[in-house]
Order: sequence, then structure tokens, then C-alpha cells
Amino acid sequence: MRKKIIAGNWKMNKLPNETISFFEEFVPLVKDTKNEVVICAPYTDLFYAILSAQNTNIKIGAQNMHWEENGAYTGEVSPQMLKAIGVEYVIIGHSERRQYFAETDETVNKKLKAAHNVGLKPIVCVGESLEQRESGNAKEIVTKQVKMGLKDLTNEQIASTIVAYEPIWAIGTGKTATKEDANETIKWIREEIENMYGKENADKVIIQYGGSVKSSNAKELFEMSDIDGGLVGGASLKPDEFSKIVNAV
Ligand code: PGA
Repeated sequence: MRKKIIAGNWKMNKLPNETISFFEEFVPLVKDTKNEVVICAPYTDLFYAILSAQNTNIKIGAQNMHWEENGAYTGEVSPQMLKAIGVEYVIIGHSERRQYFAETDETVNKKLKAAHNVGLKPIVCVGESLEQRESGNAKEIVTKQVKMGLKDLTNEQIASTIVAYEPIWAIGTGKTATKEDANETIKWIREEIENMYGKENADKVIIQYGGSVKSSNAKELFEMSDIDGGLVGGASLKPDEFSKIVNAV
């Protein structure tokens, strides 16, 4: 049985003092869960989040990184830097980075390998736009993102890669994919991983759903056969609401 990972993606929200108060409220609310709980905070909050999550069951992740170890890349942060302060997870290829910051399947693949090389657990995002879904191209688009983004990994690396299926039209819009659609698309993703790495490896990959997950729909989504938890944006900003999502299953 794959475990469920419920990860919050705070995006560009919260100052250090807000991070500290979030954890004060959130830590006791999720202490009994069997699910893996991750908070992906902005760079400037990471250190505060790591201190606040010490001796708890909550893990900390970043929302992006560069693939190089160091060098002349003004404004960038390396995998080694994240690892050194105690970050354990990193989101790679979020649709907002693909849309606004020129992230491509090629850079996703470089970052994915760089994350594995330092022992960060990557959460790789894939997903189609509304236009692509409506024109019947969702499968082709998502499959291509998987094929190119997840290529050339070792068996160990693919088995410890987390994928988040996030249909772009469902992110921040209040529109959620139906649980059946989300489950079906996640099956396509796992099939493609199986084509690339074999069934034994594909069965180990944790695949989350993301896009307007909230406490009112988390349970029905997370109970589907192929949905191994969620990547949660807006609803992860409030301790009470996010704890209900974590505790939904
Ligand atoms: P949302 O964002 O939950 O606010 O839709 C999800 C995400 O972008 O990861």
C-alpha cells in the first residue's frame, strides 16, 4: 500500500511571523495522522518553518530550486542550499512556474535529477489546460509531460519521485476535477510510468491530485483507488482548514 502525502503549497504567501503562528496552531491539529504532512513554504519562511516543525510529524518543502549546485545564477537557490537547512521536499514544475517563469519539461527533468542527487524528495507537477482538456488532448499532454519530465532516472529515483496531477483549470479557481476524472488521469500517468520503468516501480510512485482541494472534497478524492493524497494551495494557508484535509482520511 502506498502511503498518502498531503502537501500544502503556500505559494507567495506568509511572512516569518505568520509562519510561526501557523505552526503553533497547526502542529497539535495533525499530530495523530498516519498521512505524511508537508508544508512547502516560500524561501524566506523555510528556516522558521523548519524550526517550528522540529520534533513534530510535519516535513518542510520548497516550491522551486535551480538544478546547479552553485555558480553565477543571480537570484537562484540550489538543491544543496535547501538540503543544508533541513528542507526535505521540493515542488518541481508547478504550472505557475511553467506559465510565468519559462519552466519546461527539460528544466523539470534537470531539477528532478538534481533533487534526487542530494536526497530531496521531489513533487513533480503535471496537468493540462482547460482548452487541452476540452479538445480531448489531456491524455496526450499529461503523458508527454511525464515522458519528458521523468526520463532517465534510476529505479530507486523513480520509485521515490512524487507526482502531482494538477489540471491547470482547477488551480485556484474553485473548480475541482471530478473524483472519477482525477482518478482516471492519474491511472494514465501511472501507465506511462509503467511503460518507462516497469510495473514494480510504477506501483511505488505516489501520485497526488491538486486543484481546489478543500475540506469539503478531500475525503472523496483521497479515497479513490489511485489518488495518493493531495497538493493543496489556498486551503493550506489556514491551520484549521488544512488540518481537516490532512485528517480527511
Ligand atoms: P489550489 O492550488 O489548491 O489553490 O487550487 C493548488 C496548487 O497550485 O498546487
